[in-house]
Amino acid sequence: MIEPKLAVCYYPEHWPEDRWREDARRMRELGLSFVRIGEFAWSRLEPAEGVYDLDWLQRAIEVLHEAGLGVVLGTPTATPPRWLVGKMPDMLAQDKEGRPRAFGSRRHYCFSHEGYTGECARIVTVLAERFGRHPAVVAWQTDNEYGCHDTVESYSPAARVAFQKWCARKHNDIAALNRAWGNVFWSMELSAFDEIGLPHLTVTEPNPAHVLDFRRFSSDQAIAFNRRQVEIIRRFSPGRAILHNFMGAFDAFDHYGLSKDLDAAAWDSYPLGFLERSRRDDAFKSRYMRVGDPDFQAFHHDLYRACGRGRWWVMEQQPGAVNWGAWNPAPAPGAVRLWTHEAFAAGAEVVSYFRWRQAPFAQEQMHEGLLLPNSEPNAACGEIARVMRDLASCGPFPKTSRADVALVFDYESAWAWAIQPQGRDFSYFDLVFDVYRALRRAGASIDVVPPEPDAVKDRRLILAPGLFAPRESFVAALETCGAVILLGPRAGSKTVDFQIPPDLPPGPLRRLVDVSVTRVESLRPGAEVAIGDAGVFHRWREFLKLGGAAAAELRAVDGETALARSENAFYLAGWPDERLMDAVLRRLFESAGLTGLRLPEGLRIRDEGGRRHFFNYGPDAADLRPFLGERAFLLGEDMLEPCGVAVAETRAAAK
Ligand code: GAL
Repeated sequence: MIEPKLAVCYYPEHWPEDRWREDARRMRELGLSFVRIGEFAWSRLEPAEGVYDLDWLQRAIEVLHEAGLGVVLGTPTATPPRWLVGKMPDMLAQDKEGRPRAFGSRRHYCFSHEGYTGECARIVTVLAERFGRHPAVVAWQTDNEYGCHDTVESYSPAARVAFQKWCARKHNDIAALNRAWGNVFWSMELSAFDEIGLPHLTVTEPNPAHVLDFRRFSSDQAIAFNRRQVEIIRRFSPGRAILHNFMGAFDAFDHYGLSKDLDAAAWDSYPLGFLERSRRDDAFKSRYMRVGDPDFQAFHHDLYRACGRGRWWVMEQQPGAVNWGAWNPAPAPGAVRLWTHEAFAAGAEVVSYFRWRQAPFAQEQMHEGLLLPNSEPNAACGEIARVMRDLASCGPFPKTSRADVALVFDYESAWAWAIQPQGRDFSYFDLVFDVYRALRRAGASIDVVPPEPDAVKDRRLILAPGLFAPRESFVAALETCGAVILLGPRAGSKTVDFQIPPDLPPGPLRRLVDVSVTRVESLRPGAEVAIGDAGVFHRWREFLKLGGAAAAELRAVDGETALARSENAFYLAGWPDERLMDAVLRRLFESAGLTGLRLPEGLRIRDEGGRRHFFNYGPDAADLRPFLGERAFLLGEDMLEPCGVAVAETRAAAK
């Protein structure tokens, strides 16, 4: 069982010291357990090179500790101070146009700059040595949101040299690289690794294989940067969990790979900001403007649970309006509570609100906190008080178990289809998320998983839309796992070197569904291909040649196969709209022996350990009785108000 905890992000360096004690007292009174501090404070920790001022941080930690709060200590490496930039100006990352990223906000560093990574190792060592064994320090956060503001890739001279070395390690000899990238095309052949440039500023598009290797390299650099901090913290701060706060709808590095070095994953959940940024239409955005997309938070909870191998937190939870959306509405009454419960239902150990008090100065002065700038409580405080009462009614939460349904999310596939979308709106994230949304509408509790053999064991249904170049071990695991499988569109359509497989797509996945893809087309907005009366393909469509072991399950109006099947494996030959996806899911559920629900729009559930959690994102009250079964309420009742949360438990499990 998990006893979920609440926390807050706090910046003692923003406030007069005589306020800290009162802040800590009020945090505790509100029911908070942990406080994250320190992640941007480099200029105060080391005001000039080698001149440390750690005493204020020591005093802040003591004050929080005395109030009974645990501390999550952030490393300050996302905000290199001005003196450091002056000392080594070439540590600045460069954007795609080759311009240095200027000092004056944050994340202006290049992962490949050895001088800067050395400075990071030094400041992290100083902090870990001083505070690593302090009894208040319960966990660490490395850096802050790797990649935020488009900062994974850098086109600096340091990145170029590091990329050349990376290519030499990967390809061994330049002839092999020329073959892998297909450099005979357009006379792009190279004769030495030090001739390799970064894939930018070319006259027309650079070679996709070159770009994919650059993205793999950039991801590896972020992982190595993080690992260096983790190794230092582990040495000086034994027994403390090390986390990083990832982002939403963000795929610029391999989060599974980076998380292998962490004890738990975390992510920063801003439901209203993310909804505004999404590609959903205005009607959808208006409908959910104060509660957020009903599936977006849950998708990331399920993804980051996989990254953290079961252990994960929300490190920053939106508590009011933010400042960075195109529009920034205030949450509906109850929304902060709803978001908090959705995280706990998916196994979060901690939900931490961003931030304690709204800052009256600098970039985020329009971003709300739990307190107004004058320290009066903001609306979220009342909701947190209610969450504390809910937790008392619900008792500990069951640990998440292995879900029957697994949805594959793969970072390389996201890079591949961003490099070569072939149609302007082909987004891998959107494709996977459309499938996720349909699964949630059907009431499924889902594990989002990497394309690795272990992830598919003991499942009943596995869905892998858009998986670009599956490795042999994964294909073999799919062949023997016994689950119902959905592949396509674009599954197995490239080799790992970004080439079309010699025996046509879906390459090795043909062992699962006996089809080959002979033609693909992307569809402009408004263009649709009807699949009988089941729904339509939009955005993307493929033409299949069926082998002897495959049959057509659904056909398009022009007679082409839309859904092919060989035994338990299905291949979907296009991007389905909601109706078609629901129809396909019904078939899959039936084949897998799973029961699907038809939840009303806006109502969502999650099942865990005999409990069913209900969340109402819709504008009207929802009747829960059709979905209650043999369960009794621990929280809530038959009719669930808008923004409401209910928890029901099977009678057998109830105490
Ligand atoms: C996050 C970031 C925080 C703060 C917050 C505002 O992306 O980690 O430092 O900027 O957004 O919503």
